Amino acid sequence: MTNKLKYFVANWKMYGHLKSLKSLDKVVKFQKKNKKAKKIKIVYCPPFTLLYPFVQKLKNSNIKTGAQNCSFESKYGPPTGSINAKMIKSLKCEYVIIGHSEKRAKGESDQIINKKIQSALKNKLKVILCIGETLSQRKKRKTKKILFNQLNRCLKKIENKNKIIVAYEPIWSIGSGLIPKSKDLEKTLNHIEIFLINKMRFKNPIILYGGSVNPKNIMLLKKVSYLDGFLIGGASQNSNKFIDIIKKTFN
Ligand code: PGA
Repeated sequence: MTNKLKYFVANWKMYGHLKSLKSLDKVVKFQKKNKKAKKIKIVYCPPFTLLYPFVQKLKNSNIKTGAQNCSFESKYGPPTGSINAKMIKSLKCEYVIIGHSEKRAKGESDQIINKKIQSALKNKLKVILCIGETLSQRKKRKTKKILFNQLNRCLKKIENKNKIIVAYEPIWSIGSGLIPKSKDLEKTLNHIEIFLINKMRFKNPIILYGGSVNPKNIMLLKKVSYLDGFLIGGASQNSNKFIDIIKKTFN
């Protein structure tokens, strides 16, 4: 059983407006007052429109911010509607989620993800790389192969491995209320860990689980080995639920 649950990443997806900032107060207070919460890493990844207000709001706390995506282009240039790693870093933002399945579903390839990671690292952002299989791939028992392929391609020629966190997010689990059976999840996470160490030359891989994490199933999920934390979507938009999830991992 693991006791190294350290990362709690809130992915707000395409939700939130300026009024949502108020909901951070509770989490900031919790992080400041709770002894155990002081030792963990909480990262908020709001939409781009809220990134700067979040950085400002959280600057006197221990809570970090991250973007949900970045362009693969490092230089300033014309691609209208794009935001690059340099711009994100300039806000004093520290993390970026790359390769989320909701972006992959819109055509983002492993090759593009690889370029985005390179650009993020060049700009000194920490990367949360998402990988995961579809339900049909899982049913065909292709999970391991799919994940290894994604890691191989996404991390090709990437040197700075200690700045990369891997988030395993089974696509069928995201937003569905379904989570893998603990035994299956543990097996998959173990495969990922071994692959990262042996094939990708990671020294101390950090691996998160994401997909329908909520205050109920956290009691099961927290017992799963090979996990360093969670990437939390829906439930993270409600401060009470988010705090509840974190607290439950402490006991
Ligand atoms: P969910 O999202 O917790 O709402 O399933 C997780 C994610 O997409 O990162």
